[in-house]
Amino acid sequence: MQSQHQNRGRYNDTLLEVLSSEGRREGVCEALVGSMIQTADELKDEYIQEVECHLSDSEAEVFREVNELAFKEGAWYRPLHNIVVPLCMLHIIEGEGLARDLVFPAMNHDAGNSLMKIAPTTQGADWQNKDKRVAHMEIGAKLCREQLERIWEKQLSDPVLEHLDITHNRIEQLADIVAHHDDPYIGKELSDPEHLAHRDADRCFVPSALSFWKDYIAYLNDSGCKANASELGVSITPTSLIQCRIASFYSTEQSLPESITRMGVAYAPHLVGLTEAGIPEPQSTSTGEQIAEKFIINRLAEIEEFAHLKSIDEFDDFFRKSLSNEMRWLLASLNHG
Ligand SMILES: [Fe+2]
Ligand SMILES: [Fe+2]
Repeated sequence: MQSQHQNRGRYNDTLLEVLSSEGRREGVCEALVGSMIQTADELKDEYIQEVECHLSDSEAEVFREVNELAFKEGAWYRPLHNIVVPLCMLHIIEGEGLARDLVFPAMNHDAGNSLMKIAPTTQGADWQNKDKRVAHMEIGAKLCREQLERIWEKQLSDPVLEHLDITHNRIEQLADIVAHHDDPYIGKELSDPEHLAHRDADRCFVPSALSFWKDYIAYLNDSGCKANASELGVSITPTSLIQCRIASFYSTEQSLPESITRMGVAYAPHLVGLTEAGIPEPQSTSTGEQIAEKFIINRLAEIEEFAHLKSIDEFDDFFRKSLSNEMRWLLASLNHG
């Protein structure tokens, strides 16, 4: 209790300074993750309800089932991932004039991970483990197929329900998106425009508030990431992490939008080596690119603010504002579906 209390007190140094020192960061990392868990947990129900307002009955049914699995899985960031990706997909569908039913794989693409974690033997997906990476896609594709077939059949038997305008062939196409959604992480390229649009929505999560600050703390505690960073000549800081994200979303300095260059951070293409894919992967749709750009600018603007924080309480406020502003922005500009 006492150490918890001390962790929440104000430090003499900034959190950034404390985190930069290997010997001093341990309890602080735990407290920061605890802060993010609590904020995400407190805010998620409100967002789930708001997303449902944008969904049809059958979409909401899939959304609810996937959320239930996520709660059982217990990974604290999963519920937010399952909200952010469908929201980004809805923007991409609207902005690019794509098929509305692409929202289904956006909702259930990672449910295979929840199912693996709930099953007693597999312990969830391990992103370093290629077999498990593949398994979460296969299990998710099966679930996607089952959910859509079940809804389709239920509607056939009850004409009062809304009609899900979908064919068996289309269900297979949507399940196929789930079955291959992480292929770029295992060295296989995606080429189908719908697969790529889904990939855009999934990757929008990476520079989002929750994922970015979660990854910063996770990288600080990952020996592989630390070794990787030191080989690349950097230490893990919010600045090097956002440079890494910029290098991942923009393959050349010329392709950087003015809104990002204006923020004054140096373009460091070699830091793409810190990412999982290890190579740049620009967004394929302009809507997906705009969302990622907005999130990157948000993070660049926050890094200065983060550098002045001196307590976990200050981080609580900082992170809550960051997450809720971004979620408000994602939710505010959607038309009702
Ligand atoms: Fe995945
Ligand atoms: Fe995902």
